[in-house]
Amino acid sequence: MSFRLQPTPPARPNRCQLFGPGSRPAIFEKMAASAADVINLDLEDSVAPDDKPQARQNIIQAIGDVDWGNKYLSVRINGLDTPYWYRDIVEILENSSDRVDQIMIPKVGCAADIYAVDALVTAIETANGRTKPISFEVIIESAAGIAHVEEIAAASPRLQAISLGAADFAASMGMQTTGIGGTQDNYYMLQGDAKHWSDPWHWAQAKIVAAARTHGVLPVDGPFGDFSDDEGFRAQARRSAVLGMVGKWAIHPKQIALANEVFTPSEEQVTEAREILEAMEQAKKNGEGATVYKGRLVDIASIKQAEVIVKQYEMIGG
Ligand code: COA
Ligand code: MG
Repeated sequence: MSFRLQPTPPARPNRCQLFGPGSRPAIFEKMAASAADVINLDLEDSVAPDDKPQARQNIIQAIGDVDWGNKYLSVRINGLDTPYWYRDIVEILENSSDRVDQIMIPKVGCAADIYAVDALVTAIETANGRTKPISFEVIIESAAGIAHVEEIAAASPRLQAISLGAADFAASMGMQTTGIGGTQDNYYMLQGDAKHWSDPWHWAQAKIVAAARTHGVLPVDGPFGDFSDDEGFRAQARRSAVLGMVGKWAIHPKQIALANEVFTPSEEQVTEAREILEAMEQAKKNGEGATVYKGRLVDIASIKQAEVIVKQYEMIGG
């Protein structure tokens, strides 16, 4: 480790981010009553261009009227390549209370994108006497976004989370697929006649995790499009969890329980982590830096690994 310590990411649960179109206010109460940790009210790609003005009004009204409980409340604005984004921010922040926590910026390509939004948000906050700073989440979903993910992760103290947006990412990269996340039929290795499927999203996820962790930001896996495929969602989410991501989007309510299941450490994981911490405590008393737990080596690095699991569990209220 260099002498500069890795910053701690925001201590809030982010196992599932539930999306809903801002043009569909009938589902807002259902979103608020769901088991998702984060709610993303969308002004971007699930809202048709003609519906954007009404969707903003729906969201402003819902921020005030709906009981969002302890949900982290986020609004996804339109991309900086559209004529909509500045009005999304101005209207939402000038007309809603502190109950809105976060602005999600899609399709970011470089740190300057975040700087531009930060400048506008800061001016509105100051002019309106808003006391609670709005946080940011960004979506990496382009070739430029992944190429510049490290500068993006460092771009603003407002930044709390980075998601991978599989569909736009695949399009921008020129990937030959229309799938939104998950296994791709043509992405396999051959060993004799046996096919071994690999994970085309892996490197982008790992790159996001490294950039996010370096700068104390939460890395999140984005959408899994086929909401009839529970096992496919689970498999994708489990890989993301093992890579260090803290949660995943739900684009349909049936995906919420799946995300919560995967991103909440299991009783067995927590018990094992606690046992490892105890074993290491005992080793320390014996003047040893390493010991054996269930037939395998555990050492000082194992303490940090075990603490990640215990901390996640405690934060979620386990
Ligand atoms: N949040 C909360 N509740 C939702 C919901 C959501 N995103 N989507 C649907 N529901 C509700 C429905 O109202 C319905 O409720 P009911 O049982 O009380 O009638 C129930 O869940 C089942 O819905 P279903 O009929 O299976 O889905 P649908 O056809 O109404 O909607 C989608 C399907 C995919 C269009 C919808 O889930 C959706 O808009 N998802 C989010 C899309 C989005 O925001 N994309 C941007 C990010 S990629
Ligand atoms: Mg997108």
